[in-house]
Amino acid sequence: MVLRPMNTLKVEGRRVLLRLDLNVPLKDGRVLDDTRVREAAPTVRTLAERGAIVIACSHLGRAKGKPDPALSLAPVAPVLQKHVGRTVRFVPDVVGEAAQQAVSQAKPGDVLLLENLRFEAGEEKNDPAFCAKLAALADVYVNDAFGTAHRAHASTAGVSAHFPERAAGPLMAREIAALTKVRDNPDRPFVAVVGGAKISGKLETLTSLATRANTVVLVGGMANTFLLAQGVGVGTSLVEADLVGTANEILAAAAGRGVAMILPTDVVVATSPDAPGRTVEVGDVPAGEAILDIGPQTRQRIAQLLTKAKTVFWNGPAGVFEKPAFAAGTLAIAQALAASSAFTVVGGGESVAAVQQAGVAAKLSHVSTGGGASLEFLAGDALPGVAVLEEGVK
Ligand code: 3PG
Repeated sequence: MVLRPMNTLKVEGRRVLLRLDLNVPLKDGRVLDDTRVREAAPTVRTLAERGAIVIACSHLGRAKGKPDPALSLAPVAPVLQKHVGRTVRFVPDVVGEAAQQAVSQAKPGDVLLLENLRFEAGEEKNDPAFCAKLAALADVYVNDAFGTAHRAHASTAGVSAHFPERAAGPLMAREIAALTKVRDNPDRPFVAVVGGAKISGKLETLTSLATRANTVVLVGGMANTFLLAQGVGVGTSLVEADLVGTANEILAAAAGRGVAMILPTDVVVATSPDAPGRTVEVGDVPAGEAILDIGPQTRQRIAQLLTKAKTVFWNGPAGVFEKPAFAAGTLAIAQALAASSAFTVVGGGESVAAVQQAGVAAKLSHVSTGGGASLEFLAGDALPGVAVLEEGVK
């Protein structure tokens, strides 16, 4: 994979369209987790210090092609400004007159942040006319939005063809390097820990990991479907009964390749996430209770596996970790990753939140800003946002 690095672009005095992924959780106009903003900030600062006119843009949430005040990027601008350490001027427009005027008045070193790209119907449609308007704002294009690289939208895909000079930002480059190592060249043993509520949405990744990894540890809601596939009663737990056959196929594929698939041997059950939990052996889940976390024996087993691993990828929590009574499994995985001397990569909003809650982010090799993007990358898919950057690069 050959991507042009941002530092080879001439940016001084030029307008740079900088696609970022500032899709952060907001509550009452407040940024709840600024990880993506912090990770994007050095790129903005570098461009501004090199004398570029920085036109930063991003989507936020799923605004269906029309303005939605609850999804404005306005509250993100001051957070970006704080992390960049320079003034960030929020422009409440994407490609209209106000945006064009703000760009024409900007001077080298200035930083603008455009309004939510998904307020425009052309963004998600990768509409050629919208791509042309967006491209007309700038001279060169930098994509540093790894988290959105799996979307073929105007700002991540179509716009790129308008820029003979385009480059991958440093965050994009770091993400691709770390995930390429995990996917194509992992030091072994390679242990993948996959959790979260559901298998659907992660099927391709699971299938890929079931051939690439040495061990795949299944936790969280998705493990329930695998337990059910093995004939284990899961009470009222979340399951995807229609995917039991698929789960069996994945288990069979893994067995055929000598890949160990590890399921929980003990779990924490309760009648609801608001009721107190208790630990039971996996074969003893009562009919009226649901599995809400992994038990201590399973936590210990995972910790042992991660101690011996040379490469670890983790996506998805082991239980309902937003409830303290069911957070022990997820936090134990975060701690075990931090204690491991392996090359450790975590991807996905909830696992990243858990790593931060456990205070261990700095101890990991790479914390990805991409959830869906990192899973699709590991599944072996070409990400549209990366593919367009590769085209024409010598
Ligand atoms: C993400 O959070 O996974 C990315 O920002 C992409 O967002 P989307 O799933 O709404 O396209």
